Amino acid sequence: MSLTGRTVLLIIPGGIAAYKALELVRLLKREGGRVRAVLTEAGAQFVTPLSLQALTEEKVYTDLFSLTDESEMGHIQLSRAADLLVVAPASADILARMAAGLASDLATTLLLATDKPVLVAPAMNVRMWTHAATVANLATLKARGVSVVKPEEGPMACGEFGPGRLAELPVILEAIRAHLTPAARPLAGQHALVTSGPTHEPIDPVRYIANRSSGRQGHAIAAALAALGARVTLVSGPVTLPDPAGVAVVKVETAAQMLAACEAALPAEIAVFAAAVADWRVAEPAALKLKKAPGAEVPELHFLPNPDILATIAQRAENRPRLVVGFAAETHDLLAHAVAKRLRKGCDWIVANDVSDRSGVMGGAENEIHLVTEAGVEDWPRLPKEAVAGRLADRIAAEFSGD
Ligand SMILES: Cc1cc2nc3c(=O)[nH]c(=O)nc-3n(C[C@H](O)[C@H](O)[C@H](O)COP(=O)(O)O)c2cc1C
Repeated sequence: MSLTGRTVLLIIPGGIAAYKALELVRLLKREGGRVRAVLTEAGAQFVTPLSLQALTEEKVYTDLFSLTDESEMGHIQLSRAADLLVVAPASADILARMAAGLASDLATTLLLATDKPVLVAPAMNVRMWTHAATVANLATLKARGVSVVKPEEGPMACGEFGPGRLAELPVILEAIRAHLTPAARPLAGQHALVTSGPTHEPIDPVRYIANRSSGRQGHAIAAALAALGARVTLVSGPVTLPDPAGVAVVKVETAAQMLAACEAALPAEIAVFAAAVADWRVAEPAALKLKKAPGAEVPELHFLPNPDILATIAQRAENRPRLVVGFAAETHDLLAHAVAKRLRKGCDWIVANDVSDRSGVMGGAENEIHLVTEAGVEDWPRLPKEAVAGRLADRIAAEFSGD
């Protein structure tokens, strides 16, 4: 009975999958949870308040302007008395209204007035799901911290095939459990800033200086911190990886853009700088493509130092994250460099890794790190980057719980 004592406010918009919300109520109740249901006007075309009332054993709310509802339980109280708001199946319409901040009926008013986490499980026709408007609305909601249980691919009621089918109920149930089981979310309420990937420093409009970072370690750290309940902003250089689920991603190219995005993301309690930021940029990138011509001289590049993102954030007087973690990628004298770097940059921890050719770390699937803290150096075994990320996230959670 993992949901005993927890209350879910289940908002059911108008969609063909609304009937599945009835089964979701049954599953939540079976786990010991309390469910209060809200039907939109369109939702009530698909399932009846009576069915929901029978299954939830509670009054079902539909009308913002019901005098009896307001006298029994005002709408603000209704939105805050729950531990979690779940919108399932979330229609394209309600996602758009949420993204726009509308409060045009009871459901959207509750969603705007709440101070509790919100989880949406969208379901719609594949064209509606892939429409640029829906994609943009979802991105807006994710950036605001709304959790999304992505729809699945498969045959649809409308006869088409593709992504847009409501996620299977056990998947939605697991996402709800993850929100409502505090032990599994020790970083709930904390904002974590993570950087990942390489930077690209332009030479001219078509050429740039880059490095071999794949972003795999940074992205895995962002995902691991989100899995522990942190709200995560991932500032990523150019990578080919998919965005981690449940993470707000800000995409940048140059070191200067990365610093600006990090500063814009503050305040944050946790900052992990895993990106491989170029130390130098070309002083004057050419406005037009550099051309080779017979007999012409080979161009010379002049460099300027890039901003030091780790040191800048670690040494901030205001809004310094409580825990600042830097990475030291070295090809020789790894530990000596890492220990010195921690002191020089003013950060709390350094994750040191050997990125020489023989290590296969840069762009590879595994990492072998040494965690340098004030207390000393911890040598971790060689592990897949996802496992390193999980262990680092656990270590951060322990730091925040005072263990
Ligand atoms: C038979 C039928 C099925 C529908 N199924 C969906 C659906 O699966 N997903 C969706 O986003 N909209 C669907 N719609 C459209 C919504 O019901 C419509 O956009 C409505 O305005 C949603 O209002 P609400 O978001 O306030 O519930 C369907 C409409 C009809 C008539």
